[in-house]
This record gives sequence, C-alpha cells and structure tokens, in this order.
Amino acid sequence: MPKLAAKTCLITGAARGIGLAIATRFIEEGAEVILTDLDEVAGANAARELGARFIQLDVSQESDWRRLAEQVPALDVLVNNAGITGLESGTTPQDPEHATLEAWHAVHRVNLDGTFFGCRYAIGAMKAKGTGSIINLSSRSALVGIPGAAAYASSKAAIRNHSKTVALYCAQQGWAIRCNSIHPGAILTPMWEAMLGDGPGREARLAALTAQTPLKRFGTPAEVAAVALLLASDEAAYMTGAELNLDGGLLAGSAVSPGE
Ligand SMILES: NC(=O)c1ccc[n+]([C@@H]2O[C@H](COP(=O)([O-])OP(=O)(O)OC[C@H]3O[C@@H](n4cnc5c(N)ncnc54)[C@H](O)[C@@H]3O)[C@@H](O)[C@H]2O)c1
Repeated sequence: MPKLAAKTCLITGAARGIGLAIATRFIEEGAEVILTDLDEVAGANAARELGARFIQLDVSQESDWRRLAEQVPALDVLVNNAGITGLESGTTPQDPEHATLEAWHAVHRVNLDGTFFGCRYAIGAMKAKGTGSIINLSSRSALVGIPGAAAYASSKAAIRNHSKTVALYCAQQGWAIRCNSIHPGAILTPMWEAMLGDGPGREARLAALTAQTPLKRFGTPAEVAAVALLLASDEAAYMTGAELNLDGGLLAGSAVSPGE
C-alpha cells in the first residue's frame, strides 16, 4: 500500500537537490506532487520528467504565496525546503564581523520569511480538513554556531523554533495539522558543487569536509527524502513539534570526547 496515496503534497525549491529527491520519493509513494521553485526552467523540466505539476514560486515573495493559495487551495503536505546559504556568489562575506545588513536580510528573507509564509499558507490550506503535515528543512546549523555563515545559522535556528510554535498553535486549535523540522548535516547536493569542484582534488575535499562526521561521508538527498516521507505519512500521526537530526552522528558528541 503506497504511504501517500490520495495526498496532495507541495514542495518548495524542488527543481534539484533535496527538494527533487523528496518529490521523487513522494510520487513513488502515490502522492500527487506539485513541484515549485524560483528557477522556472529547471523546475518545469524536473516536473516534466516526473510527470508532475510545476508552479513557479519565489518563497520570499508574499504575492507569490497569495497566487499559490488561489491555485492550490487545499493541501495535505507542505515541505518548506527552499533555502540559500548566502555563499552562492562566493564573494559576499557572511561572518558576523563583515556581513552587511543587506546580506543578512537576503538570507533571512528566503529561509525564514519563506518558511513563515509557507506555514501560514499551509495552515489555511489544511484547516478545512483539519489534518496535514508541514515539514520544514532546517539544518544542523540551527543547533550550533557557524562562523562563516551567520545568517544561514540564525535563519535555520529560527525555523526550528517556528516549527514548534506552528505545531503548538495547530494543536491548540484542535487540528491534527502536524509541523516538524528536519536537521540535515552535510548532504551531497548541487549546493556543494562550487566548493568541491572537479578533478583530482575532489575526493580529498569530500573527505576533508566529512572528517569530523562519525559516519565519514556525506548524506544523500534520498536519505533526507526517507525521513520526509515518514513525517508526511500517517504513520507519524503522533509526531508534532519534533526535530529530527540526520547528520551521520555529528551532533551526537563533540570532536574532543572525554577519555580520548
Ligand atoms: N545540502 C546540505 O548539506 C544541507 C544541509 C542542511 C540543510 N539543508 C537545507 O535543505 C534545503 C535544500 O538544500 P539543497 O542542498 O537541496 O539546496 P540546492 O541549492 O541544491 O537547491 C535549492 C533549491 O531551492 C531553490 N531556491 C533558491 N531560492 C529560492 C527561492 N527564493 N524561492 C524558491 N526556490 C528557491 C533553488 O532554485 C534550488 O532549486 C535548504 O533549505 C538547505 O538549507 C541542506
């Protein structure tokens, strides 16, 4: 029996990476999936390959969410996945000493405002039925400081907290609308490609980036999708306000363990 039969699921930032893997897995489990992304060309191509619907959506724009609410008034599952690090251009400082206010706001607009808008839209689209699942992609960075990505870490920490507020609010209203957050460590997606590059140094850079991870490797988008599937399905009906770490054991201890 497919786990998401007859469920309408919408995923933001679904043109590639983790969002695309979640869309693929949800479709395999019988869901009607709507892919959305800022990137219209890549998003439409991905949706065509999956035989799914695509809607262009910039998560940081309230007007886009209003338009979406008219196009998709009812929903069972929303995955707030779209996110940026602020390091994409490779030139914008993101440390707490040199980051500009504009750079700080730009990351929060996508990651945090986008998740706020998404949760607000999802509540409206789920409350008539009184059931649903909102899944927010936070990060390991929500739980630890990141010297070179201050706004990213701050925005992900706020997403973690907002997920719990949404969970409690929905429960208070008497709705079985659940809201949970996923906290991945390093997952190998296009987000990392600029940093890794091609050629002979790639393997060494991959190893260096995961040297502190107990499982000594990157996670895969499919492994994140498996956790999203659990949260989306009715099997997780008693889970709300929870945070799931998915980080190869990174947060389980510290680099310097007592006794070593
Ligand atoms: N890859 C990792 O190691 C990792 C770790 C922890 C958390 N995450 C989180 O998982 C999510 C997905 O990450 P990924 O690695 O797949 O990233 P990615 O960069 O590979 O893909 C992100 C997608 O989001 C889209 N996007 C960017 N800005 C958008 C906007 N304003 N509106 C709509 N779409 C937008 C992009 O076009 C892209 O398709 C992000 O929230 C990220 O912070 C990733």
